[in-house]
Amino acid sequence: MTPMIEIQNIARYDGQEVTLRGWLYDRTDKGKLQFLKVRDGTGIVQCVVFQKDVPEDVFADAAALTQESSLIVTGTVRADTRAPGVPGGYEIGVNTIRTIQIAEPYPITPKEHGVEFLMDNRHLWLRSSKQWAVLRVRATVIKAIRNYLDDHGYINLDTPIITPTAGENTTSLFELDYFEEPGYLAQTGQLYNEANIMAFGKVYCFGPTFRAEKSKTRRHLTEFWMVEPEMAFFSLEDLMSMEEEFISYIVQTVLKEREEELKLLERDITMLEKVMPPFPRISYDDAVERLSKIREEVTDSEQKELLQIDWGNDFGSPHETELTKQFDRPVFVYHYPTAVKAFYMQPVDGRPEVCRSVDLLAPEGYGEITGGSERIADHDLMMQRVKDFGINPDAYQWYLDLRRFGSVPHAGFGLGVERTVSWLCGIDHLREAIPFPRMLKRMYP
Ligand code: 4AD
Ligand code: MG
Repeated sequence: MTPMIEIQNIARYDGQEVTLRGWLYDRTDKGKLQFLKVRDGTGIVQCVVFQKDVPEDVFADAAALTQESSLIVTGTVRADTRAPGVPGGYEIGVNTIRTIQIAEPYPITPKEHGVEFLMDNRHLWLRSSKQWAVLRVRATVIKAIRNYLDDHGYINLDTPIITPTAGENTTSLFELDYFEEPGYLAQTGQLYNEANIMAFGKVYCFGPTFRAEKSKTRRHLTEFWMVEPEMAFFSLEDLMSMEEEFISYIVQTVLKEREEELKLLERDITMLEKVMPPFPRISYDDAVERLSKIREEVTDSEQKELLQIDWGNDFGSPHETELTKQFDRPVFVYHYPTAVKAFYMQPVDGRPEVCRSVDLLAPEGYGEITGGSERIADHDLMMQRVKDFGINPDAYQWYLDLRRFGSVPHAGFGLGVERTVSWLCGIDHLREAIPFPRMLKRMYP
């Protein structure tokens, strides 16, 4: 009996006869030779059908296979450094082929397709090698996130998806009818994390997050995945130290475990290899100053316009891109203006116009990948902020309670999975970093 193998393990079977199951990804015919690229979900391997090595009907069956036909192949594994595939370096000399289904003419062909067409066919596009590679990186990012936190004493506690109030802001809430009462899809699990840390110390939630963002940018999804660690007795400085360790671990794990995928994506990994602690830390004030200097040197008037910034404004992506160019690794920007951040952030002592917040900006123009802060621990100040925010404090009674029964300084942040995956894979739009993206104008498939 020949072993049934997965392509990802092919190196273990050099010289042996094996069987694998999958789909025909691509083919080239060279008269007496047919090169079939077969994928099985774990990898892609070139299967060579040589007319003189196989019975006539096997050669004919191979020739009849259309793109994406499903099949079972038996053949001998041969090491060949030139062999394309993932992992490369091996090919299969075919002995027999069993066709499972001949695919109908496949809509996604090797020719160029528009992105809207590909998005309409997302259920099929997932099979394309680039999409496949990105989503394998995504799975590793998620695994690394969990491993790091689980191994460093963080307790994973799920927070609700259906919530009675806003968690982040009131402008991007998805409202739903909760048995005749208004409910909202969670914008963050943070507020519940803050309850959880008072019971567990260090916690994280990790789940889908919803923002009814009306803005149509390449960095915004309406449904995305966010991991949110929250820690009791953490200062902003503790937070930055934890984040740089955590993010470096994620990046280095991906470089180690997804080398083949990054190669397939033609990702230049020089900048990723440098992602190690410490990360530079600059204040918002400093960032604004740097930006005005950068702007002075810009000659292009359009770019000059884009880089315009007054103290108090939030950064847009041109600002973030220019700022990160000054550093060789991700950069922390801390102490943002209170007015552009969420209501729960601790004001800076003696300077309440700025708050104890920190965003982490990824290099190479990939923008903000984490946002976090020290939280207000004082009951009365939090009560004031909730009121200023324009919502009924009754709905936040439980959250205010946390400030009444053993309140402690604490901090936390959220990391967007799709932003991280886009950065690591070098793709310029978040829609490719999640299997089935949800965006302003897209809910299908
Ligand atoms: O900066 P944000 O909005 O922070 C929070 O929600 C905090 N409550 C987190 C916390 O302190 N526990 O979001 C955090 C991260 C961003 O840095 C970004 O990576 C990602 O979540 N993110 C989005 N990703 C995709 N689409 C969107 N619309 C996103 N909004 C935020
Ligand atoms: Mg943010």
